[in-house]
Amino acid sequence: MDFFNIQNFSLFFSYIRRRLYATFYSLGLLIVIFFFRKHAADNDRKMSSLQELVNNLSSSDVREQALFELSKRTELFDDLAILLWTTPTVMTALLQEIIAIYPDLSNEALTLAQSNKVCNVLALFQCVASHPATRMPFMSAQMPIYVYPLLNTRFKSKPFEYLRLASVGVIGGLVKVDDTEVISFLTSTEVMPMCLCTMEVGSELTKTVEFPDS
Ligand SMILES: *[C@@H]1O[C@H](CO)[C@@H](O)[C@H](O)[C@H]1NC(C)=O
Repeated sequence: MDFFNIQNFSLFFSYIRRRLYATFYSLGLLIVIFFFRKHAADNDRKMSSLQELVNNLSSSDVREQALFELSKRTELFDDLAILLWTTPTVMTALLQEIIAIYPDLSNEALTLAQSNKVCNVLALFQCVASHPATRMPFMSAQMPIYVYPLLNTRFKSKPFEYLRLASVGVIGGLVKVDDTEVISFLTSTEVMPMCLCTMEVGSELTKTVEFPDS
């Protein structure tokens, strides 16, 4: 009986080898699918909690917490700007927060807590201003104009300094790209004199933000 001859052996081994390859291949595929699905599920969870945070901006009792959480993470999610811009009532709520501080801008007693809250709003504004998909709608809606009064203060205390710094950040977000439409909007609204005034009263930090190359 020549069952154990060389040819049968090599056939047998090549058969085993092919089975092994097939097994490893399907195992690998399964692992890839597993991680892909896990990643997708994680992403879904992250997105839904992000959406929840953005929704929470609309209700005044949880707004402050949501502002705090979101302003820390503006860099983490690419499309936060779109979410902020398209979720109904969110931009209105943010605008209300900004306008609510106007009466206190002429009062040197502005507190750090007040300033921090509005700085968090401004961080979200900056996020919207610098995203390519929301920059133009943000400008067309004249949103930058609501930031100008915060630039136009002259008190040197920290709360005011932080407000000016965050406001300059919003303008900086707009001019991140060299877009003639943005530049002509900004020159037509005379934001430049305000930025110069900010430089005059501001600290080194504000000056650096305004003219990063100098
Ligand atoms: C949103 O607000 C609700 C209360 O209205 C709170 O229970 C929930 O944890 C908040 N969501 C996030 C993601 O912070």
